[in-house]
Amino acid sequence: MPRPATSLPPRRSPRPMPRTPATDPLAVLNALPDPVLVVDGGGDIRFVNLEAQEFFDLGASAMEGTPLEALLPPDSPVMGLVEQVRRGSRSVSQDGVDIDTPRIGPHRVSVQVAAMGDGTDAVVVTLRENAIARKIANTLTHRHAARSVTAMAAMLAHEVKNPLSGIRGAAQLLEENASEQDRVLTRLICDEADRIVALVNRMEVFSDKRPLERGPVNIHTVLEHVRKVAQSGFARSIRFVERYDPSLPPVWGNRDQLVQVFLNLIKNAAEAAPETGGEIVLSTAYQHGVRMALPGGDKRVHLPLLVSVQDNGDGIPEDLRGHLFDAFVTTKVNGTGLGLALVAKIIGDHGGVIEFDSQPRRTVFKVSLPMYDQSQDAGESGGFNGGGRLRG
Ligand SMILES: Nc1ncnc2c1ncn2[C@@H]1O[C@H](COP(=O)(O)OP(=O)(O)O)[C@@H](O)[C@H]1O
Ligand SMILES: [Mg+2]
Repeated sequence: MPRPATSLPPRRSPRPMPRTPATDPLAVLNALPDPVLVVDGGGDIRFVNLEAQEFFDLGASAMEGTPLEALLPPDSPVMGLVEQVRRGSRSVSQDGVDIDTPRIGPHRVSVQVAAMGDGTDAVVVTLRENAIARKIANTLTHRHAARSVTAMAAMLAHEVKNPLSGIRGAAQLLEENASEQDRVLTRLICDEADRIVALVNRMEVFSDKRPLERGPVNIHTVLEHVRKVAQSGFARSIRFVERYDPSLPPVWGNRDQLVQVFLNLIKNAAEAAPETGGEIVLSTAYQHGVRMALPGGDKRVHLPLLVSVQDNGDGIPEDLRGHLFDAFVTTKVNGTGLGLALVAKIIGDHGGVIEFDSQPRRTVFKVSLPMYDQSQDAGESGGFNGGGRLRG
């Protein structure tokens, strides 16, 4: 059977039109950013574009001639869509289809199936990896990251902090009768013990399980406050650009924790920005229609408030991107790698989403947050967390 993709029938008159240069339909299909597969009446794959080979991690020769079913999880809704088109629908589509196989791992895609319309039973299957689905996958990983820090923080508080105070007390006792020379050593024990306690204390916020106290928060006053703190300290030489949507409704959140989030993000931005000509752009916007269904509930959250922090530094190193929000991931000599882990935890507790986009001279962290509305006060005692708080 000839490759349908390369043998498209001429549309109108067979008389050759003067076309220069000729466009190769195969090149067009291979340039598409979405996987495209052609499946024949018997269910076998007849054609795959480059992106489909990339997606399924298989070459064209391995895919063409094999049944579509073999590539998909058992009972995949994709087969049902193909059936529907065979029974006469011209084109059908479905969002939020999970394709999870040991070979390619979990993906959530929108699937579109259309009849080839060339007199055969062939259909064209197009998959589109959904940006929002990817966001959710990211958030869940980040929450997972925060959870593992939580367990570790609880362990540290118990197994490290208590014995340390014993060690410190013993060193202080020794100090009383120690010679001047030995006192240097007992001081060293105390100082190092204090340093470790300080680190453990910093971790303790992760194991804080109290419910999030939240109410309406004006995000612009939060950003204003954080900018002032930054400009009087670590970001003294940085130029700030503010692009605010003044009509933005309040965030449903916890003010102190949101201050912490944007302080951490702006600190990272300031540390990444070049020494001269460093610039940080803070912006807020209302994004219509962004609704996310998070697994573990059939509720859809609306996250219309977008707050972003952008810097003009070198960008996030490629090898860091997959686990940027994990604890202890740092490239800084005196870094703790706890900044973004805490950001991820707080955003997660708010039911929000954080993503980043990074290239040299332009790295941006985008935080999507829920909006406050009066009904949130009604159902819950004192505006505490409740229905809108989602856990993965
Ligand atoms: N805006 C940014 N530009 C470039 N790299 C960044 C940026 N923000 C974070 N990073 C990278 O992520 C790492 C982790 O950040 P973070 O969790 O705040 O820990 P720390 O700042 O202590 O290193 C940083 O060490 C840095 O390599
Ligand atoms: Mg940091």
